[in-house]
Amino acid sequence: MLSQEENDELTHVGPGTPMGDVLRNYWYPVAFTRELEEFPIRQTRLLGEEWAVFKTGDGGYGIVDERCPHRGASLVYGIVEDDGLRCGYHGWKFDTAGECVEILAEPDSSPKFRAGCGVRSGQAQELGGLVWAYVGESPAPELPRYEAYTMDGIRDIGHAIIPCNWLQIMENAVDPYHVEALHGNYFEFIAKQQGTPMPESFGGNKHEKVAFDPFEHGIIKRRLLVGQSEESDDWKIGHPLVFPYKMWVGGNGVFQMQIRVPVDDTHTHVMFYTIHAPEGVPAPEGDRCVDYEIEWITDDGKYIVDYIEGQDIMAWVSQGPVADRVNERITKSDVGVVACRRMFKEAVEAVRNGEDPIAVVREPHDTIKLPLERSKFGRGAQFATDWINDGSMRYSPLAEELKKLHIDAAAAREGLGAS
Ligand code: FES
Ligand SMILES: [Fe+2]
Repeated sequence: MLSQEENDELTHVGPGTPMGDVLRNYWYPVAFTRELEEFPIRQTRLLGEEWAVFKTGDGGYGIVDERCPHRGASLVYGIVEDDGLRCGYHGWKFDTAGECVEILAEPDSSPKFRAGCGVRSGQAQELGGLVWAYVGESPAPELPRYEAYTMDGIRDIGHAIIPCNWLQIMENAVDPYHVEALHGNYFEFIAKQQGTPMPESFGGNKHEKVAFDPFEHGIIKRRLLVGQSEESDDWKIGHPLVFPYKMWVGGNGVFQMQIRVPVDDTHTHVMFYTIHAPEGVPAPEGDRCVDYEIEWITDDGKYIVDYIEGQDIMAWVSQGPVADRVNERITKSDVGVVACRRMFKEAVEAVRNGEDPIAVVREPHDTIKLPLERSKFGRGAQFATDWINDGSMRYSPLAEELKKLHIDAAAAREGLGAS
């Protein structure tokens, strides 16, 4: 349980708020690479502010305040040129660093005059099918090249804007017991009501114990299921909450970065960024990457709860636009949630002291590997096909192709094992 002030401090993301100051130390995906190839500029709302993100004719990426510094027209309706962005209203031109490089129809367009005419800007770059933005203070840290964005495989990105604060989604990432209840017992109840068989995916996993270990990129979660040995990957390796807005999950040839971009205090852009790379078949050639919207609510306003992530979304959104942590009752089984809040509070303190919060990466690097179970829940190849059937990937245009990929890979591995 928190005081109202503590809850506000943890959840408000706007400029000048304590958590807003923490969150402005990280890079966020603000567009799909595909989108800016189809049209070179779009609006994005990030951390409670409106931005225009664009790709120039020369291939550079930029992000600037949506509001033109001249007289406030939207730069989203500007002209993208080879080396910058020109406001559609009176033609002031800005480079990707936000400097004003040309003023049309102005007798004095000298550098001295233009020096005060720049637009507030961040930095943008592309990685792994996503366009990433940093809108905090200079110098910008490195964009962390987590393995998810650099590994070979088919990229499948289901996403949706979810009407709740990002923190309650992150708390769900350190809440292993909900898997047993929400994706087990509740899923079973719904299946029974619908007269469909209980999916085999995540249910029936009774927890014996859980653990949460802080590490340099966040918190490693471990679980020991009844009947498992302490040598199992679920306990020995675990998988991480990646501070401050992601979780890395998967195994058995299917890997997923769960991305929760804080759009504003009460909206989060959730992405299930999945890479399919089963052993046994060659990695697919080229950059295959699809994005698609997932369904989570019916036309008459009911949550869609007959798949795993739909159940999670029901839980997140039904907690309210910002979860009421004043009137909650935290118990021992919420130990991960407590660890998560502690880490966020420590990050607020670090930023107040002028230090980098956790998981800010300053060193240039090729790729960052994160711990992850190889064998999830001790299950084999069927883990991937079940996840596609029972999870948000059922909405993927590639769902059937991906299932076949995993089945073929399993057959190829068996063939190898038999020979
Ligand atoms: S409002 Fe943008 S150039 Fe005038
Ligand atoms: Fe869940």
